Amino acid sequence: MKRLLLLLVMAAVAAPAAAQSPEARLVLLPDTTGPQISRHMYGLFAEHLGRDIYDGFWVGEGARVPHVRGIRKDIVDALNEVGIPNIRWPGGCFADIYHWRDGVGPRAQRPAVPNRFWGHVLEDNSFGTHEFMDLAEQLGAEPYLAGNVGSGTVQEMSDWVEYLKASDESPMAKLRREHGRQDPWEFRFFGVGNESWGCGGNMRAQFYADLYRQYATYLRQYAQGLYLIAAGPSAGYGGYGSDLEWTDILMRDAGRMMDGYSLHYYTVTHNWTTKGSATLFDESEWMLTLKKSTWVDSVITAHASVMDRYDPEQRIAIVFDEWGTWHDGEPGTPGWALYQQNTLRDALVAGITLNSFNNHADRVRVANLAQTVNVLQALVLTEEDAGRMLLTPTYDVFHLFRPHHDAELIPSVIEGPEYQYGGERMPALTASSSRGSDGSVTVTLTNADTRRAIPVSLPFEASDVSGMVVTADELNAHNTFDDPDRLRRAAFGDIEIREGEVVVTLPPRSVVAVTMR
Ligand code: AHR
Repeated sequence: MKRLLLLLVMAAVAAPAAAQSPEARLVLLPDTTGPQISRHMYGLFAEHLGRDIYDGFWVGEGARVPHVRGIRKDIVDALNEVGIPNIRWPGGCFADIYHWRDGVGPRAQRPAVPNRFWGHVLEDNSFGTHEFMDLAEQLGAEPYLAGNVGSGTVQEMSDWVEYLKASDESPMAKLRREHGRQDPWEFRFFGVGNESWGCGGNMRAQFYADLYRQYATYLRQYAQGLYLIAAGPSAGYGGYGSDLEWTDILMRDAGRMMDGYSLHYYTVTHNWTTKGSATLFDESEWMLTLKKSTWVDSVITAHASVMDRYDPEQRIAIVFDEWGTWHDGEPGTPGWALYQQNTLRDALVAGITLNSFNNHADRVRVANLAQTVNVLQALVLTEEDAGRMLLTPTYDVFHLFRPHHDAELIPSVIEGPEYQYGGERMPALTASSSRGSDGSVTVTLTNADTRRAIPVSLPFEASDVSGMVVTADELNAHNTFDDPDRLRRAAFGDIEIREGEVVVTLPPRSVVAVTMR
């Protein structure tokens, strides 16, 4: 394995803290060459749910807030700063009740239908296929479309793909041109249903495996180059009871027709009935939430080992297309809107999860945070009626992890102390490392301990190190519309360059990224 060999010169960072002997160390795994960390692991998900699309991204062409063709500009600008590689749409559960024809053609003629999954609110279909493809283009993101298996037909889905992809004189290509789009769109990610074991039709694995084969047959006839993603299992509660049999049957009977296999895992503090508040929590709930977020690792390991039996070459990617915290909705908002605040605790969950994805880059090649604007663990929150917007601590974590996009994983494990509270325990630290195309090495770390700063030795020779941190004094620190910069990323200088190592002292309750040259 290649090692970074740079001359030890001087720190380019702020004055280091007094020398401490490291209590933790990053250990590089010998003789292993890391896979690429696909940038598509840093994708987002936007569903027709609550105020993610309507009164989120989509404000319409008559809006007073600045927009480009009805898509809110300040949101797009902010997301462009972190680099969004792909965006998944229109669901989620909504995908399996969505009929794409409702969302094309002149807006005034589109039907209004109740969104029966999410609050029965009237969906006027003003945001449809053309608007979504425009959004993806404005974000510089690859579109990831999820098709309707649960209440649609093979013909409906293959027509949609023909509408999007065909350049010939086929009926759907003609229809697209009538609707103002001459050229087909470039895209590859396509999901064949969503959670087909649950909201996507309550199917059994064998039935879905057969349906998947049928749908995939006709999609491929209409379009080459599609990256087809099969709906994965129920992840069970808190990672336990994850349905490995579903994965076994899907891999055995439909694996040869898949490019990706979807997994979902939500971090829920208590249980699905009483999830817990996003902002009003104590240290025992901090511990519980962060501990549960580390279980994403075992969800990946368990399903990957089943996949390995049928696909030892690892051709089929895990597409982790829903992940994040799921708290109780904010008081005063409808439960179905899934509007929640986002605190330092959510930032830690993001850091822990993204480190895990990076370390599983051999199998996990696409992932999507749930969701983007105003829903679940969002990057952006907006006031109602297109009012003010703020960026969440999770947004800043995505910023810190940006150097990992398409970088080469440096396989490693972190050895360090436990964090203990109220009889519970978990590893205090997580980490992942990668080498960028310019030779620089980035290590991202999380420290869940609420009290202890932990010095960590990173085994790299470096002359120039810079760092960024997301941390705060209060566990529930968060941004509000009146105080949008309460918790933002900041420069991190607690770094000491020594011969053959860099020692970073992680503040308690923190997510840190250091880049070494
Ligand atoms: O993200 C919210 C919902 O969670 C999605 O619609 C569904 O796929 C999952 O159960």
